[in-house]
Amino acid sequence: AEHGSLHGKNILITAGGTREAIDPVRYISNRSSGKMGYALAQAAAEAGAKVTLIATQIRHLPYSVSLIKVESAQEMLQAVQDQFPQQDIFISAAAVSDYRIVHPAKEKIKKTGKNDLTLVLQQNPDILADAGSHKTGHQFVVGFAAETQNLAVYAQEKLVKKHADMIIANDVSSTASGFNSDQNQVTIFQNKKTAITLPLQDKQKLARGIMTEISNSIQ
Ligand code: C5P
Repeated sequence: AEHGSLHGKNILITAGGTREAIDPVRYISNRSSGKMGYALAQAAAEAGAKVTLIATQIRHLPYSVSLIKVESAQEMLQAVQDQFPQQDIFISAAAVSDYRIVHPAKEKIKKTGKNDLTLVLQQNPDILADAGSHKTGHQFVVGFAAETQNLAVYAQEKLVKKHADMIIANDVSSTASGFNSDQNQVTIFQNKKTAITLPLQDKQKLARGIMTEISNSIQ
C-alpha cells in the first residue's frame, strides 16, 4: 500500500443510502447496502491513498480509513463540503435520497385514528453536482449512475450536468448486480474517451478495477 498507484492522494468517498427523518424514531431510506462505497474505500487504502469515508451504515474497514458517520443528505452534504477542499479525488457512491420530509416531527408521531397520513417532501441538494461545480484544477470527481435503461445516454448527461470527470454506470434491472448484491458490473464513462466495461465480479475486485481506471485517468 505504501507504494500503491494512489500513494499520497487524498480520496473522499460517500457510501450507503441516506436516512431522512420522519420523527425521532422513523426515517425514509432506500435499499442501498453501502457495500460498493466500502469496497472502494478498502481498494483506495490498498492503493496507498489517504481515505475519508462518509457513510450512513457501519461496516468493516481498514483502520487507516477515517470514517464520518452521517444520517441525512443534508448532513452528508455538510460533511462533503467540509472535506472536499482537501481532496484530490471525490467518489460519490452514496444513494442520496432525492427528497426529505419538510418538517420532521419533534416527537414520535402517534396514530391519529384517521386512515391517511400525509408527509410533505422537498427535494434534497445534489451532493455530487455541488462538489463538481466547486472543484478546482487538479480535483477529480466521480459519480455513479444506477439505471434500468439507456445507460450510456444517462451517464453522458450526468457527466455534463454534475461536472463529473467520470461516471460509473450500472444496470440495476439485473438482479446479479447493483443494490444489495455482492457482485456488480459497470461501464465507466469519461468525456471524450471510449467507455470501458468491467465484467461482472465481486464488488471488492471491481473496486480495485475502478481504482486502477481512476489512477490511470489522473496521471
Ligand atoms: O441523479 P442520480 O441520482 O441518478 O445521480 C447519481 C449520482 O449522483 C451518484 O453518484 C450519487 O451519489 C449522486 N447524487 C448526489 N446527491 C443527490 C443525488 C445523487 O450526490 N441528491
